[in-house]
Amino acid sequence: MSIQRTFSIIKPDATARNITGKVNAKIEESGLRIVAQKRLLLTEEQASGFYAVHKDRPFYTDLVKFMMSGPVIVQVLEGENAIVAYRKVMGATNPAEADSGTIRAEFAQSIDANTVHGSDAPETASEEIKFFFAENEIVG
Ligand code: RTP
Ligand code: MG
Repeated sequence: MSIQRTFSIIKPDATARNITGKVNAKIEESGLRIVAQKRLLLTEEQASGFYAVHKDRPFYTDLVKFMMSGPVIVQVLEGENAIVAYRKVMGATNPAEADSGTIRAEFAQSIDANTVHGSDAPETASEEIKFFFAENEIVG
C-alpha cells in the first residue's frame, strides 16, 4: 500500500445540478482526501488538450463541447492507492453499468454527463495534476 495522488474533475452536469458537495461527500466517505480544488470554466484549448488521447474517437467533439458547457471543479485527491480507489468510487463510465453506491450510479445522467473524471494510471495522474495545479497549490 502506498499513499498516492490522483486527479479528479467534477463535470458540468454536476455543477449545473448543484451537487458538487454530494460528490465531495462520496469522495471523503471513501477515505480519500481532497488536497487541492478549484472551480473553473475550461477553455477550448484545455478541454481538447485534456482529452487529446480520444481525438480520433467518434465522441470526441461532443465530449470537448460538454466539458466546456459549464463550470467544472478540478481536484487532487490523496490516499492509499488513490488512482484505483477513486476509479472504484466513481463507478463504470456508463452509469447503467456502474455498481450501486458509486458516484456515477447515484448521480450520472448518461455516458457523456457522467459527473466525474478520474485518472487511469500513475503517469496520467501526474500529467493531469501538473496540467491544472502548481505544487504549492496542493496541500496534503
Ligand atoms: P474519464 O476519462 O472522464 O474519467 O472517463 P473514463 O476513463 O471512465 O472513460 P474514457 O474511456 O476515458 O472516456 C472519457 C469520457 O468520454 C466519454 N465517452 N463517451 N459515447 C461513448 O461511447 C463514450 N465513451 C466515452 C465519457 O464521458 C467518458 O467519461
Ligand atoms: Mg479516462
